[in-house]
Formats: sequence, C-alpha cells, structure tokens
Amino acid sequence: PINDLAVTPAMGWNNWNAFDCSVNEHLLLSTAEKMAAMGLRDAGYEYIVLDDCWSIGRDKKGNLRHDPEKFPHGMKYVAEKLHSLGFRFGMYSDAGTYTCARYVGSLGYEKQDAQTFASWDVDYLKYDNCYNEGLSGTPKITSERYRTMTEALKATGRPILYAICNWGEDYPWKWGHTVANSWRMSGDIYDSFDRPDPRCPCTGDEYDCPLPGSHCSAMNILNKAASISHTSIPGAWNDLDMLEVGNGGMDDEEYKTHFSMWAALKSPLLMGNDVNIMDAKALSILNNPAVLAVSQDPVGAPAVRRWRYFVNDTDEFDQGEIQMWAGPLFGGDQLVILLNAGNNSRTMTATLVDVFRVATGIPKEIKEDWDIYDLWANRMDDATAQSVIDGSTTGEDGANVARFYYNATKTSYK
Ligand code: GLA
Repeated sequence: PINDLAVTPAMGWNNWNAFDCSVNEHLLLSTAEKMAAMGLRDAGYEYIVLDDCWSIGRDKKGNLRHDPEKFPHGMKYVAEKLHSLGFRFGMYSDAGTYTCARYVGSLGYEKQDAQTFASWDVDYLKYDNCYNEGLSGTPKITSERYRTMTEALKATGRPILYAICNWGEDYPWKWGHTVANSWRMSGDIYDSFDRPDPRCPCTGDEYDCPLPGSHCSAMNILNKAASISHTSIPGAWNDLDMLEVGNGGMDDEEYKTHFSMWAALKSPLLMGNDVNIMDAKALSILNNPAVLAVSQDPVGAPAVRRWRYFVNDTDEFDQGEIQMWAGPLFGGDQLVILLNAGNNSRTMTATLVDVFRVATGIPKEIKEDWDIYDLWANRMDDATAQSVIDGSTTGEDGANVARFYYNATKTSYK
C-alpha cells in the first residue's frame, strides 16, 4: 500500500449519485450534521466527499479556483467545519484535461493541485479518468498517469486517501496496490439490482465498461467483481462504486443485498443518497452493525464467489441465477452468503465443504462446531447438521447473509 490509510475500506458519503452537479457548501455541511445526528458518523461513515462540478477553472498562477457561488466561504472553511463535526473532507479531480462534467482537470498540474488540496486540509481525493488525452490503453501508461498524483500527494506531507476512478480500464486490480488506496473496477453504478441502464447498457457479466457513461446494475458489477475480488488487500481495495441504498430504484431486499455484497467484498462504502429524505428502512440498512463489522473486519479478506448456478427461466432479464460467496473473518469466523440473483424464489443450500473449499488452514474434514448468526434477521440460528444454510430465500432476488462463529471448544459433529 502507498500509505497507512484505508486499512479497512473507506466509509462516508459522496454527493454524485443523488445530486450530480448540484453541489454547494450547504449540501455538504447539512449532510454531515444530519449524518452525525443519525449516528452514521459514529457508525464509521467518516468521509464527506465532494464530487465533480465544484470549480471555476484556474487563476493566473494556475491554481484551481472553487466556485464562489457554490462555496462562498472557500474550501478550507468546508474542511474546518467538517473536521469540527468529526468528519474528514474528500474532494474530486481528474487525471485528464477536463473532469467528466467538463470542469478543469489536473493532468499536467498534479503537483500544484495536490498542494492546493493539502492547503485546503483535504483528507481524500477521488481522481477520475475523463479527457485523459489518450494516455491509456496499457497498464503502464494508465498507472503512470495516476502515479504522478500519488507522488504529488505524498510530497505534500499530508495524509490524503487516494481513490482512483478509472472504471477498471487497464486492469487496476493488477497495479493499483502501488498507486492508490482503491480503484474503481467498473463503469458507473445504476440504481437497479439487475437491469442495466437502458439508455447506456453495461451488458454481459464480465463486460469491461471503461467508457464514461457506462451504467452497470449491482449484479453487473458483482459478476465482474467475482473474478477479481481476491485482489483487494488492506490499504488497497477494489471499489465497486458508490452505494445506491435509499435512492429508490431497488426494493428493500435488493438494497440489503447490494449493501451486504459491497461490505463482503470490502468495497469502500460511500453512501450515495439524500440523507434529508432517508427513510427508516434505508437507515437501518446502512447502519446495520453486524454488516458494518464485516466491512471493517480487521482481517480485511474480501469474500470470493465459490460457485454460481443457473436455472432455466423465462423472464428475459432473469437468468435464474444463484451464487454462493464466502470469506474469512476475524477470530476464525466465516462469512457465508447465498445470493439469489434471479426473480423467482429458490431453495439454496451450501455445505461446509463449499464454505471452506478455498479457505486456508481449515482441515478438509470439518468437524468443529459453529454458531450461525443471521446478519439481517439479527439472531442466532441453530446449526444442527453439516448442511449449513438451508437457504430458502425471500421471494425474489435477495440474499441470506450469515456469520459463522468459530467455536473450537464445542464437541465436533459426526
Ligand atoms: C464519472 C465517475 C462518476 C462521477 C462522474 C462525475 O462518471 O465515474 O463517479 O464522478 O464522473 O462527472
């Protein structure tokens, strides 16, 4: 890793999914106040991240200028206010001549802009990929373009979490560890569980969507993440994009699943909704402590997909698909997820062999006893046999998410 930051995946809020370019000082500060009041800051959501559209170009010396209408007191004031509320401040720029919304970018100005961000007491930089002047196409070219900012941030002496946003272009999961604290691995998320944005579809499971404007459903992103989730390590994470929980495009089961999977795969968890209209359900999803404990687990091992299974179906969008994901947690515990990605109810079962197939240090013949905690029902389930989750799911797409508590002192199953 490039620094000591993001030892666990970053948590916070970013305005983009709910507000696009409608940004201003009041939005950031009122969101922070509300998040503190709702307990979300204390639940771990610490970064308030301002996305695109905040600047009005450069001054005569080439320094970035904030838009004084949107930010009348300047950016340092926003940072101070956020810090006094117990948050950290994130900003946005682009490794190109323009940002994606065509504001000025940082390509060629990396040192100067990093100093500007540091002088504003910024704690986090999201760094986008639009208008990159063709400096892409190979891992070397892209990683070097991003590394220029890595070095520039380091030279400021201020700890600044560096979140790069190049949509999976040129395989950031192969080189991101030496460049950034996280990297986007797909096109932009779209507020749907399994339907890509019809205006701009991101089709196919493993579709590499490096173009700005590619909009992927939660399942598009997950299916792509399945082959790379294991490349995340503490301090350097695959970023599955900002959360849509609370934005209205999915039902509650889908939002629970979206959130669970992002936590299990150790994606950064940046809320993307309007906290002023957040209902109790969205809040209870975003601050479920058992799921947040999975995200912030000290082992920092992302869940991986152990199997997927297709069932024939008639719905044109529904491949009738079920998947099983698992990964190690602190204390020898295991996370187990049975994911129903289809639109009909399914019975799903995983065995202990499924759960531990890829885990290290666990004997092939599993004889220990386990306590099973259902992370959404918030209760212990009795495991009476070696068949693990007898996962009859909810009606439609959704997931059973369980934590297996390792209990070596109990007698073994036979
Ligand atoms: C790109 C990024 C988004 C957002 C917008 C802003 O599309 O992937 O996350 O930052 O730009 O214009």
